[in-house]
Amino acid sequence: MRLLIIHGPNLNLLGEREPSIYGTQTLEEINQRITDEARALGIDVQCIQTNSEGAIIDALHAARLDCDGIIMNPGAYSHYSLAIADAVRSIAIPVVEVHLSNIAAREEARRISVVAAACRGSVAGFGCDSYLLALRSFAKKA
Ligand code: DQA
Repeated sequence: MRLLIIHGPNLNLLGEREPSIYGTQTLEEINQRITDEARALGIDVQCIQTNSEGAIIDALHAARLDCDGIIMNPGAYSHYSLAIADAVRSIAIPVVEVHLSNIAAREEARRISVVAAACRGSVAGFGCDSYLLALRSFAKKA
């Protein structure tokens, strides 16, 4: 099984970005934990980060050709990008949305994810563990 992990906008600044909400782990540290967990589960992962909506859409399209699934944190795009939601609906492989914070408990504008509605499922509120729980959801299907 091969999965693509997509980290969206501003997640490159994890560790220094609003640590009271997103924690103090850097993206590099989170990617290391994802890679370690994936190895233990027998899953191949590639992690990418982009601040651009179009690059996320391109990555979703490309992954349909060589991946079995995608774990994606679309960042703020989650709340309004119908283009990313459409891209998720345009590919046959499953996408699981993750969030570090519990978006349901945040400001009103963050409570809805238009992308999550297009995904197989979503995991939010567990920090880095949100990604690890999403990984396990794929391992169960292996
Ligand atoms: C986030 C939540 C979003 O509302 C925010 O814009 C982010 C991070 C999360 O992981 O908790 O960039 O996706």
